[in-house]
Amino acid sequence: MGSTIKNLSTVFDRRAFLATGALAGLAGMAAAAAPARVKVGVIGCGSVSHMYLPHLSQSPHVELVSVCDIIPGRLNGQAERFDIPNRYPDIDKMLAGAGFDLLVNLTDMQEHERLNRRAVEAGKHVWSEKPMANSLAAGQMLLEAAKEKGVRIWGAPAMVVSPQFAAMAKLIAGGKLGKLAAAHAAYGHAGPDWAAFFYEKGGGSLPDLAVYNLTTLTGLLGPAKQVTAMTSVVTPIRKIRGKGAVKVAAEDNAMMLMDHGDGLISHVQSGFNYFNPHGHDGSKEQRHTVSIVGRTGYMGLVGYDWNPRGVDVATEDEPAIRRIATENGDIVWQMGASLAAECLATNRELLITSEHALHVLELIQAARESQETGRWVALRSSFRWPVV
Ligand SMILES: NC(=O)c1ccc[n+]([C@@H]2O[C@H](COP(=O)([O-])OP(=O)(O)OC[C@H]3O[C@@H](n4cnc5c(N)ncnc54)[C@H](O)[C@@H]3O)[C@@H](O)[C@H]2O)c1
Repeated sequence: MGSTIKNLSTVFDRRAFLATGALAGLAGMAAAAAPARVKVGVIGCGSVSHMYLPHLSQSPHVELVSVCDIIPGRLNGQAERFDIPNRYPDIDKMLAGAGFDLLVNLTDMQEHERLNRRAVEAGKHVWSEKPMANSLAAGQMLLEAAKEKGVRIWGAPAMVVSPQFAAMAKLIAGGKLGKLAAAHAAYGHAGPDWAAFFYEKGGGSLPDLAVYNLTTLTGLLGPAKQVTAMTSVVTPIRKIRGKGAVKVAAEDNAMMLMDHGDGLISHVQSGFNYFNPHGHDGSKEQRHTVSIVGRTGYMGLVGYDWNPRGVDVATEDEPAIRRIATENGDIVWQMGASLAAECLATNRELLITSEHALHVLELIQAARESQETGRWVALRSSFRWPVV
């Protein structure tokens, strides 16, 4: 994903979703009363909207009210495909137009901060694709502004709701792996070719790809205390469809080391130059893309954390590797905005928090600072942990 998946099945079956326990406890309420619908406006009708809009349009908690894009062809295409009654060419017209409750921001990474702020100032809740803002300081101000306005803001990614994340968190909490020592996570592909922003300042493989592994590892191991990193540009010029050659300004290759305290060290690698024999939609990925080891156990996440296939576990008690958590129900990575709408409609809290998204944003910022200065960088932010 992180910009490559285009064809995952996204059928949203409410009964199966409830059965997964992602929002456990909702079933009784849903049976008692028809769920309230949250009015949703979507900004950004590019690649990822082809994953979000089918999911949102199937959610019993969503009424798709408005859509916006600065490119008329994309705007009209998605408005018609999903039968969305109001369409706008910019955020100002959208905010002044038909009323809605939740803005779903699917625009270029560098635009998120500005558009999220505009929406919060206008009293809208926000689900933002990553990153929520361009810096930790701006993100924290955005969160404060949201609190003052009495609205919610959440930042992608959403994978902490997966059954595999829950299974891994449970194994750690249950002490099955013993005292934890090390973790490794990797995610990469050959890089997007449909938009230049991925390679411009404020883009890069850290906020587009590493963000998933960083969310998973900090979600499982706890907030990082300090980070060191090396980043580089492997491919200095990219060919972008409809635009031609683009000079690469942001990293397209990155290695990070995180200190989680108590001796525990993790490593994340990501980049836009990774050949992948299994393709990029994640469905055929069988490698352990996230692995965690302690004194008495090992576990490896099969497939990507945004499209997990299971968890392989071996412990001192049961040394033969066994695979657990092989079912996903209807949990898919593009369900975050639907979950935000469901949270607003039902008051059920999510495992996804803006504080966690901001900690990951700080990690990305710190990795770049470490590359520039050649030093370790201490982290200031934190989030509620354990997540599950
Ligand atoms: N494509 C994917 O598979 C994927 C997966 C997960 C997350 N993401 C994230 O989703 C976001 C969008 O990525 P994408 O691949 O869809 O990019 P994209 O270029 O395909 O789409 C972005 C859209 O936003 C529109 N846009 C930009 N600025 C705007 C503004 N100010 N007002 C209104 N519309 C504006 C563009 O015209 C474009 O149509 C990024 O943050 C990316 O990291 C993408």
